[in-house]
Amino acid sequence: MKKVTISDLNNWKLLGHKFASITAYDASFAKVFEQQNMPVLIVGDSLGSVIQGKETTLGVNVKDIAYHTECVRVGSPNSFIISDMPFMSYPTPEIACESAATLMKAGANMVKLEGSGWLAETVKVLTERAVPVCVHLGLLPQAVNIHGGYKVQGKTQEQAENMLNDALQLQNAGAQVLVLECVPATLADKITSKLDIPVIGIGAGKNTDGQVLVMHDILGISANYIPRFTKNFLAGSNDINSAVAKYIEAVQLQTFPEDEHCFQ
Ligand code: KIV
Ligand code: NA
Repeated sequence: MKKVTISDLNNWKLLGHKFASITAYDASFAKVFEQQNMPVLIVGDSLGSVIQGKETTLGVNVKDIAYHTECVRVGSPNSFIISDMPFMSYPTPEIACESAATLMKAGANMVKLEGSGWLAETVKVLTERAVPVCVHLGLLPQAVNIHGGYKVQGKTQEQAENMLNDALQLQNAGAQVLVLECVPATLADKITSKLDIPVIGIGAGKNTDGQVLVMHDILGISANYIPRFTKNFLAGSNDINSAVAKYIEAVQLQTFPEDEHCFQ
């Protein structure tokens, strides 16, 4: 696989080429993903649940993400790696810079922060200092105790308008990718078309520019509960390689997600 850059993601958005991404935590799986031409790998703080077996992502630290980013980079030298900034690693722009530096030095191409409009200042400070930023809107697992559970976000008209405004504000501040988690498909569609930057969805319908799933979910081995928006691609495949290939193809052909994986 040729080295994937943010320019590729931007081009795919312009051309309407849907692209897949997947979470990754170690070198062996990262190598499998690269062999199947998976362009984007996300070292998610979901490792709190799928690697550490915890109920939430709150216990994950920067050093955990840095360790797994290093492992993933060894297995996949050419993918575009987005590494999560974990809970409380970006309470201020200054602390965000320190956390982000650790992840970039570990091999990330971009860092991802959960939040809303309040992140604008941090996004600006990071991008001015040469740290590319992905922002994560919608269901924010780090805010599970604020949300009161893992719930679909942006269901009322007011929430939907706020989310679109936050997305535009963060794009203005310099964010180069947006992840949208668990939002109604129509809202994700609208945000994707209003934004110039690539939008990657999870539980956000089929019209985002890219899709992401947790690797354990596509292999049917999640430790905890399996969300409705995921699909086990290993079922009906001969091996992990073909499951990954099927997932990538389904995203490109927009046969995944199906209606049953979406929220209205
Ligand atoms: O932690 C995670 O796995 C995520 C996904 C949305 C990519 O943030
Ligand atoms: Na995450």
